[in-house]
Amino acid sequence: VRVLETIGELRLVLGEARAAGLSVGFVPTMGYLHAGHVSLMEASVSDNDVTVVSIFVNPLQFAPSEDLGTYPVDPTGDLAACREAGVDHVFVPSAEQMYPSAMSTSVSVGEVSAPLEGEFRPTHFSGVATVVAKLFSIIGPCRAYFGAKDWQQVAVVRRMAADLSFPVDVIDRPIVRDPDGLALSSRNVHLSTEQRSQAGVLQRSLLIGAQLVAAGETDPSVVEAAMKEAISRAPLADLDYAAAVRPDTLTSDGPLHGEVRLLVAVRFGRVRLIDNVGCRTLEP
Ligand code: PAF
Repeated sequence: VRVLETIGELRLVLGEARAAGLSVGFVPTMGYLHAGHVSLMEASVSDNDVTVVSIFVNPLQFAPSEDLGTYPVDPTGDLAACREAGVDHVFVPSAEQMYPSAMSTSVSVGEVSAPLEGEFRPTHFSGVATVVAKLFSIIGPCRAYFGAKDWQQVAVVRRMAADLSFPVDVIDRPIVRDPDGLALSSRNVHLSTEQRSQAGVLQRSLLIGAQLVAAGETDPSVVEAAMKEAISRAPLADLDYAAAVRPDTLTSDGPLHGEVRLLVAVRFGRVRLIDNVGCRTLEP
């Protein structure tokens, strides 16, 4: 595995790869890699000739009150995980490399950024869209792999790539979970033992909602109320939202029909967790 720190070096090696007819896979990350990231890297390695992983804790996607300062880092473990997964290049730019004179350009994606996470983290998705647009522009034509845990992020990135005509195929991969159902996240490391023992409530609430939909419930507010009630049974959990929406727009317009996405966001003290699951209504 080769570690590259500059945009110029990365463009050079990928230009050479493409000139040799090789396909490129890309896994953008903020490091502290876990089995969820490994599944993305393995998918990329199996689908493409060359795989690049970026590791960059992007300051633009954190509000001043959020956890940029305490976001976990593990450069040695990350490199070992990349090597083990068969990754070819790891791009680890500094903040100066990515944002040399701060940034006066930002990318904002309308509509799909607005509900759910957009209500609780109003500047988050423009920070994500800006860094991902910059990474797509550096990397060029590729398949890019994202985890479905950040379902709304995938929708935002997909829309951004389509609107700006990036030659990138955006691929989402299934959520990887701990045995009790907690979706893997770099932030899980900050949960106390007691918080961790209650965090399985996110997936439990989603499964309760999915069962209701599968049994014929089409009123989003009934499904949402059942998920909220499930979360309220974990005393340390503070709910931000529990939503039953269309998977593409992240909104619901009247009764649920066809494909449905259930999403929850819950705070355990200062740690904020999100999770989601897909389900389908009973067709008449
Ligand atoms: O999902 C993440 O880790 C980040 O939001 C991403 C896509 C790497 C952009 O910084």
